[in-house]
Amino acid sequence: MTRTVYVNGDYLPETEAKVSIFDRGFLMADGVYEVTSVLDGKLLDFAGHAKRLGRSLAELDMANPINTDDLLAVHRELVARNNIVDGLIYLQITRGNPGDRDFAFPDPAQTPSTIVLFTQSKPGLADNPMAKTGMRVISIDDIRWGRRDIKTVQLLYPSMGKMMAKKAGVDDAWLVEDGFVTEGTSNNAYIVTGGKIITRQLSSDILHGITRNAVLRFAAEAQMEVIERPFTVEEAKAADEAFVTSASAFVMPVVELDGVALGSGKPGPVATRLREIYLEESRKAAI
Ligand code: PDD
Repeated sequence: MTRTVYVNGDYLPETEAKVSIFDRGFLMADGVYEVTSVLDGKLLDFAGHAKRLGRSLAELDMANPINTDDLLAVHRELVARNNIVDGLIYLQITRGNPGDRDFAFPDPAQTPSTIVLFTQSKPGLADNPMAKTGMRVISIDDIRWGRRDIKTVQLLYPSMGKMMAKKAGVDDAWLVEDGFVTEGTSNNAYIVTGGKIITRQLSSDILHGITRNAVLRFAAEAQMEVIERPFTVEEAKAADEAFVTSASAFVMPVVELDGVALGSGKPGPVATRLREIYLEESRKAAI
């Protein structure tokens, strides 16, 4: 089926949507993005994604071509036009097309940002069988740049990390810097030890996950203890359980790290419970 996508104010069949070869997103990875999940035709935590988008743009001095109300309307229109029940909405804003290649940023008054949105249909997104079996991960060096809090489209190293995981016959990789886990290639990372949930504190070292924010709030409401600090690979290997969070995976248990089974080697009770709470609460609050 041909999707309807959104490009700079127009809804178009995907085959007719075009962006210039001079677009800075294409030439310089000079762009930011968001991924918002859709369950039962409704958007999960749209407000959180819109807020982080604004922050990413501001940190890069990039103009925001759309206000939040209009952005919500575009998301909803794409869900409707593409009959999305469960899936994802991908949004990307770049510094636009200055008409040539130059390292210097173009004047935003002459070069408007490019905005693109498209849908990805994922029937049964919340029933991913991996939630029952858990993920296996390897650890790899985190050699990304120092502003991982900005959600940029520079995803080459995370893509390489996914390929390293694939080659190792596992599901994903955890990134490690100075002996401490920063996050997963496309998710935030957690361990559970003695009933305490441990996850790295927010800084420019990691992406400030929208799912992370919600999950930590639900954990606190459920009287679970959360400690925000870095943890090592060795600590993770000795943990009772582990999990990751992201807009597309929600809460996903991790059962193996570098070939070592974590806890029982099966999804743990904390991850399982948090996944249930997250899905239940997010569905209730979806718009
Ligand atoms: N990835 N850390 C990284 C490096 C990420 O790329 C992501 C999201 C997260 C989780 O953030 P959130 O909970 O807001 O989705 C953490 C998205 C899903 C992606 O690139 O597809």
